[in-house]
Amino acid sequence: MYANECQDSPKVERNARVIDMRSDTFSLPTEKMRHAMAEAVVGDDVFQEDPTVNALQKRAAELFGKESALLVSSGTMGNLISVLVHCRERGSEAIVGDKCHIFKYEQGGISQFGGVHVKAIPTLADGTFLLEDIVTSIRTDDIHFPRTKVLCLENTHNGCGGKVLPLAYLDKVTAFARANGIPAIHMDGARIFNAAIALKVPVSRLVQNVDSVTFCLSKGLCAPVGSVIVGTTSFVAEARRVRKALGGGMRQAGHLAAAGLVALEEMVDRLEEDHRRAHHFARSIAALQSPFFTADVTATHSNMVRIEFPTDHVTAEVFCKRVGSVTDAEERDLGQTFVVVRLFPVGKNAARAVICNNLTDADVQMAISKISYYADELKN
Ligand SMILES: Cc1ncc(COP(=O)(O)O)c(C=O)c1O
Repeated sequence: MYANECQDSPKVERNARVIDMRSDTFSLPTEKMRHAMAEAVVGDDVFQEDPTVNALQKRAAELFGKESALLVSSGTMGNLISVLVHCRERGSEAIVGDKCHIFKYEQGGISQFGGVHVKAIPTLADGTFLLEDIVTSIRTDDIHFPRTKVLCLENTHNGCGGKVLPLAYLDKVTAFARANGIPAIHMDGARIFNAAIALKVPVSRLVQNVDSVTFCLSKGLCAPVGSVIVGTTSFVAEARRVRKALGGGMRQAGHLAAAGLVALEEMVDRLEEDHRRAHHFARSIAALQSPFFTADVTATHSNMVRIEFPTDHVTAEVFCKRVGSVTDAEERDLGQTFVVVRLFPVGKNAARAVICNNLTDADVQMAISKISYYADELKN
């Protein structure tokens, strides 16, 4: 999205150490994943005869406490298929948050491919909704209106900076949706394991009251490709049909599923490390006490840090460009230790740093030193 704006660092060729904090989507598969992928026993998954895909789906269903699961190519595809299944009937409407990934970053796919009408409601800073906004969005039975079919939640909430939805809120909002007759609840759980780790609960606890979930194997969990839809047997059977219609039926997908199995077995608990590093990074940036930028420490719930720019003197774009390059003065001061830090601007006055398995404690420390150097530069 904003990647190219941060990439044109002129001195990257001069052996700069690149600390890439743009997204956990840059995470790389581990050695064990690469090995498992090479060795995977595979078959034709459209015929449901790929044993490794079947094993991954079975494991995902178990972990989420649901009946069944389906491997899909991406989080976007998982959300699209899930909403399409909930909104099979023409004239259906989905209630979504106005900052959620489905609404902002999926090309309006649910409308584009499914003809689903969208009702976007305000997302609060913590990723939650006001219950009043939900209830006033539910359609009454009126010939003029579409039919409300699904409420979509997102956890952790990317657009709100990796916020973890509180358990009490999850229980309340799902009970409220049911009590008010919304037929289904879908969870965009692209980073649901980050939420589970942050709350120290099994992931099944976070989804016990929703009908379907999409989670990603390829973000903090480091698999190269793949997301999984989880739900009831009948929901997943329909999802499989829709996946095929969208061209998402893969054949020897076990090579991908093999990495996904390693992700589920070995990469979940270590998300704690990413969260610890994100907190350290946020605290260290805030401690610089720069009048031009700060990090929101209390808003750091998982692996994302929001850096804010209270003045127009240093905008997010200016900041990202500067920390993404090396000046001649810096080169003179620091000798050969060039560091460039890549971040995403998220609007004019905020940028996002995301920690994943690619980054060590030392990398995070180097990023902090680089930003500290820039804070000093701004004092002069
Ligand atoms: C919350 C959320 N949902 C869905 C997606 C889409 O995932 P993918 O990039 O695999 O399509 C993303 C991607 O960053 C995301 O952050």
